[in-house]
Amino acid sequence: MPTDSQGAILQLTAAGVSVLIDATDGQLPAVVHWGAELPALTAEQAQALVGASVPVTGSNTVDLPPRPSLLPGQHGGWTGRPGLRGSFDGVGWSTKFRTDTVSLNGTPVTGFTTSGAGLLEISALDDAGRLRLDLTLEMLPGGLLRSRAELTNLCDKTYTVDDLALSFPIPAEATELLDFAGNHNYERIPQRGTLRTGTHLRENRKGRTGADSAYILHAGTPGFGFGSGDVWGVHTAWSGNHQHYAERVFTGEQLLGGGELLLPGEVRLGRDESYTTPWIYASYGAGLDEVARRFHTHVRSRTPRVTAERPVTLNVWEAVYFDHEENKLIDLAERAAAVGVERYVLDDGWFGSRRDDTSGLGDWVVSPDVWPTGLHPLVDRVHELGMQFGLWFEPEMVNPDSDVARAHPEWIMAARTDWPVESRHQQVLNLGIPEAYEHVRKQILALLAEYRIDYIKWDHNRDLIEAGNQLDGGRPGVHQQTLAFYSLLGEIRSLHPGLEIESCSSGGARVDLGVLEHTDRVWVSDNIDPHDRQTMLRWTTQLLPPEYMGSHIASGRSHTTGRQHDLAFRAGTAIFGHLGVEWDLAHASEEDLDGLRGWIAFYKQERSLLLDGDVVRMDGPDSNVMVHGVVSKDRSRAIFAAAALDSLYPDPAGRLKIRGLDPHATYLVEPVSTGATPSGLQPPAWWGQPTAAGQAIECTSLRGTAQNDVNFPGASFPGSVLSNVGVTSPRIHPDQVVLYRVTRTN
Ligand code: GLA
Repeated sequence: MPTDSQGAILQLTAAGVSVLIDATDGQLPAVVHWGAELPALTAEQAQALVGASVPVTGSNTVDLPPRPSLLPGQHGGWTGRPGLRGSFDGVGWSTKFRTDTVSLNGTPVTGFTTSGAGLLEISALDDAGRLRLDLTLEMLPGGLLRSRAELTNLCDKTYTVDDLALSFPIPAEATELLDFAGNHNYERIPQRGTLRTGTHLRENRKGRTGADSAYILHAGTPGFGFGSGDVWGVHTAWSGNHQHYAERVFTGEQLLGGGELLLPGEVRLGRDESYTTPWIYASYGAGLDEVARRFHTHVRSRTPRVTAERPVTLNVWEAVYFDHEENKLIDLAERAAAVGVERYVLDDGWFGSRRDDTSGLGDWVVSPDVWPTGLHPLVDRVHELGMQFGLWFEPEMVNPDSDVARAHPEWIMAARTDWPVESRHQQVLNLGIPEAYEHVRKQILALLAEYRIDYIKWDHNRDLIEAGNQLDGGRPGVHQQTLAFYSLLGEIRSLHPGLEIESCSSGGARVDLGVLEHTDRVWVSDNIDPHDRQTMLRWTTQLLPPEYMGSHIASGRSHTTGRQHDLAFRAGTAIFGHLGVEWDLAHASEEDLDGLRGWIAFYKQERSLLLDGDVVRMDGPDSNVMVHGVVSKDRSRAIFAAAALDSLYPDPAGRLKIRGLDPHATYLVEPVSTGATPSGLQPPAWWGQPTAAGQAIECTSLRGTAQNDVNFPGASFPGSVLSNVGVTSPRIHPDQVVLYRVTRTN
């Protein structure tokens, strides 16, 4: 048992997760255990466990056993990735920090201390007295951990921070990695691999989170799935350059880490100046669903909370693109209101000379050419129709052909005298320059003052390449730009507390927990094709609860992939997020409009479940069938979907299984009919006799027929049977979805 002078050992436990921290002997804190809940330990047991976790030193290694702290360093003999890299112009590059205070929830602690959710703060000084390190480790109520570090320079010489990352040890049995890749139109695509000796490093140098972001870097026991295996994951909550890594050193220690990625000289600290890392989140779970649920619980605890009652949205982008015409857009608003839409968002093209993507970006003034009397007629009509009004901005970007770029070419981010290569005909406005920041802020606030704007879609459509500050010799400016972006969001929101903001970046390239401290929705992808969206939504929920994912029903033929899909598949896919419509309703058939009205009504009736329940994704025997759903917190209700993404012939689909229910309760499982029976349906016997149409199903002739709204009674089963045994799946054509309503009956 440590005495006061020897520091502290802490055990924090919440929602089935424990972390045991060793902060004894003035050493930086090391995570002794992070994972499944520990029993309530005595001080002696905790001390013994710390001792029992010390590895044996290897042959021809340093004489100290490896002890990677949250910020490992060479002074302890660690030859893996250091947590801190930096120097006073080449000197003081290897630090030796000594912890001086450890406090829990604001109270200094020594000895063995236990707590539920809580905030641990550790303050340390390097032995030369030149640097102070303040580490924060927080156990959140849902069992999610997060940590960040603040480094302060205490002397007159400038300290350059090259890298400051935090890492968490994971046990040796976590040998399989899962993180994400992707590109524009296909974001958050999972990739698996093996954790081997060395570093699996995901570096992002795009100045935005990225369509290919690692998102969450997981390591788990081999073959882990949504409902099985032990899984540990880290997420760097940062929207600029950043990194995630998994490292296995030659002595066998394994770590997951993350941090901002700093460009050369980007953070130089003068006396008393500090650098703070982003939050690094760490989630442990028995299976990926549990890992995800801890993130969801945290996001759902945010103030202000996004509620399940959020309005069904129509975004005009795929309906009109740049073709802004007042009457047409008012007509679209009327059609939207008639099918049940509750929020109308005017996208790109309303400002300056922006008639296509080559000009006008950055001039946030309503274009008199297309809106001669301003946006008033449209905004007023939208509100008259009972809908909210939303407006698109891309505040960090300019076209070189714009008033702002012509007036202030020095505001464009560049590392040299010539500008970076263009992307979508645009350059990046340096919000790190106070005058540029003020210019954008004023233009946005002027519009918010003039119009009743309930919602902003905040876009960001290019990578930051050679993003330097022209006014400072081209010094890198991504760190500053990211902070300025957060600060602008924060200022606008504090002045307009009811305003909601969507984070969009060429679709889903800015989805992270940093941006979600300031925004209320993400645009998952520019690709609305439901076939691809099934995968993207499935994996975007690894971090975000469904109510944060913009999920639209588009026209029958996908503008991105050219594939044609039935409304039932488009809608049956989209309802598992924050529902919207992105479709020129003037060109939709009456049958489609009726169908759409029905789906929106269904969604409104069920959104308190769809947007507030626990997400469950099934590991199925068929890679062609994706089964997922949401279960209410009290486990009395659920909605599940089984989507066939490829042909189920010649083999029948595997049994439908459902997790997350009360194993001891009985549930009625009813196929949901929302206007159209899935094409190619061959129902299993347990569905019972169809009731509405009163006729037997012609198995292969239902595609496209209007009168096929058939209700099946379904059947009741114990929750344990549904999760362990399963029930026969129907046959359906590819790109069809069957929805089930699951209701507890006892
Ligand atoms: C990006 C967005 C789209 C749309 C266009 C407008 O690509 O992802 O949804 O807003 O910009 O230019």
